[in-house]
Amino acid sequence: MPTDFRHLSEQLPDWVQACRAYAADGRVATYIPELAHAPQQALGIALHHKSGLTASAGDCGMPFTLQSISKVFTLLLALIDRGEQAVFEKVGMEPTGDVFNSMLKLELVQPGKPFNPLINAGAIVISSLIRGDTPEQKSGRILSFIRELAGDDRPSFNESVYRSEAATANRNRSLAYFLKDNKVLDEDVEPTLDVYFKQCAIEVTCAHIARMGLVLANDGVDPSTGRELLPKRYVRIAKSFMVTCGMYNASGEFAIQVGIPAKSGVAGGILAVVPGELGIGIIGPALNDKGNSTAGVHLLKRLSEQYDWSMF
Ligand code: DON
Repeated sequence: MPTDFRHLSEQLPDWVQACRAYAADGRVATYIPELAHAPQQALGIALHHKSGLTASAGDCGMPFTLQSISKVFTLLLALIDRGEQAVFEKVGMEPTGDVFNSMLKLELVQPGKPFNPLINAGAIVISSLIRGDTPEQKSGRILSFIRELAGDDRPSFNESVYRSEAATANRNRSLAYFLKDNKVLDEDVEPTLDVYFKQCAIEVTCAHIARMGLVLANDGVDPSTGRELLPKRYVRIAKSFMVTCGMYNASGEFAIQVGIPAKSGVAGGILAVVPGELGIGIIGPALNDKGNSTAGVHLLKRLSEQYDWSMF
């Protein structure tokens, strides 16, 4: 049954208010110092439907950085730039069951190829595959790509978050040097990390994420113009990774409880997609122990139960 969008718009403020309570169970990320300033209790959501209808509630106007949500879009851009074969020579297609910045399987499973493009190691390799002669050109292309999918020129780099991560990223640096040593990363470490930190620091609102999600829900086609923005095959790949790896080592539980493709970021954002119907953007900076927005996941669970969104 298609989602009753009018009912959803009416109920949304109450559901956001009810789910906000779960933020008290989580913690705002502090390992990137600049993210620690985010308000613990915030919760906002925007939904964009294929019909053109939109709904939003709570702190939906609050800007936040994409962080790991960017990995879905750099994967898509790398697929467009290099093709499927070149991308999957460098990264695998399997979930890890480990935390997002784990080193464990890189050394355990030879030849040190990251398991998938949504863990940090995989995403760093993907950033190196984006076309461009300089890190600035690559970052510029990523930002233009995000702006096109968001349907708005406002998404921009948050310089303080970028600098804060670049100054403290010992774990990502060690992952990148390990990848370089194993010849999985061909480019130099620092310029590649610069591209990766910048993509993570792109600042958006829930409405941008909802619109980007809608393009994925609509198999790469902009529903308002009918124009193909992304090849359907690559959108299918991205959505498959979102189901199997998008919520990291909570992806199995999320598939059972919510059942739709989604991707989280440590700033508290979640991108979610109801295939064929709508895109969803959520912000809730307090994270659970797996690094996913605790109130955001509760809100998605509630919506999915109400409107029978599970794909399974
Ligand atoms: O590389 C990092 O650690 C961050 N820039 C992104 C990690 C992230 O968003 C994980 N998501 N839950």
